[in-house]
Amino acid sequence: MKKQDIIDLWKKHNIDSAPKYAEFIKSMNVSQESFDACKDILVELRERLDFDKINPKEFWSACDEVFSTDPVCNSSVKSIFASGDGNTFSVEESNRRNNKIPLHSGAFGSLDLAIQNRFIRNKNEQNEITKINIAEIGSGYGAFKLYLETTYPNLDIEYTGFDVIPRSECVESVGVDGTLTEEQVEKYRNKFDIIFSSNVFQHLSKKCVSKYVEQSYEVLKPFGYTLFLTASFQNNRCFHYGQEIDLFSNVEMNSLYKTNKLYPMAINYVLVFPFMTSILCQKNAE
Ligand SMILES: C[S@@+](CC[C@H](N)C(=O)[O-])C[C@H]1O[C@@H](n2cnc3c(N)ncnc32)[C@H](O)[C@@H]1O
Repeated sequence: MKKQDIIDLWKKHNIDSAPKYAEFIKSMNVSQESFDACKDILVELRERLDFDKINPKEFWSACDEVFSTDPVCNSSVKSIFASGDGNTFSVEESNRRNNKIPLHSGAFGSLDLAIQNRFIRNKNEQNEITKINIAEIGSGYGAFKLYLETTYPNLDIEYTGFDVIPRSECVESVGVDGTLTEEQVEKYRNKFDIIFSSNVFQHLSKKCVSKYVEQSYEVLKPFGYTLFLTASFQNNRCFHYGQEIDLFSNVEMNSLYKTNKLYPMAINYVLVFPFMTSILCQKNAE
């Protein structure tokens, strides 16, 4: 499906702006009857927007065009529930709010541990600390890069982002299947000290998440870290602009890491909305 076909599908169901999307979600949740009334629409959206059948770049560029900053920060849905106001936030406000998720979940504490350990390991022969390379999967509007710059202004950190849509500085576009291309894996083999991702994996199919975990092993240095923060809803499903994603449970994520020789070192949970889990893993020695 091309971007315009996706936009037309939403329009057919009167979902053609962030406030309208928020209204759709709200109306669906009023009662069992209202949910049942939306069933056919949900089935059509689910079938036509199946993650593994459409190009994620087409999907996310359609989202950006129709819903503005909302796909990156889910702002209108939150704000319409809170205040009845369906407006989306500015990029700055989206970034500020998005950084609260890893902050409140404790993921930024685990990140600090990983950064500290990588700097200790990366000392040169003169015992001087050398720079560390941090990659991010799904950079959005650059919230995490901004966090690194403001939190660690005196550390030498090189940032590389990967996204289906490069919306901010130092971000590369990923391949058509929504993971790193073979060229990117070769270019960055054994390059990164830490790979971070927040609020992204719940939007990717299991196949795509598995491939990212495999690729992370390839592009991490020995003893490097992954820190992936993702939603973990009770029903293991995520609904996002009509796309429905089957999520891995926390137990399944744990075994996916271990299968790929990434060993869990710390786990953080948030048990209130947005139900986030992050697992800090370390790559074993080669
Ligand atoms: C909810 S936003 C979160 C953005 C950012 N991590 C933050 O917290 O501000 C999800 C991001 O994932 C990106 N994304 C979606 N599918 C992706 C994929 N297959 N690979 C990399 N990024 C993807 C989207 O373009 C968007 O920037």
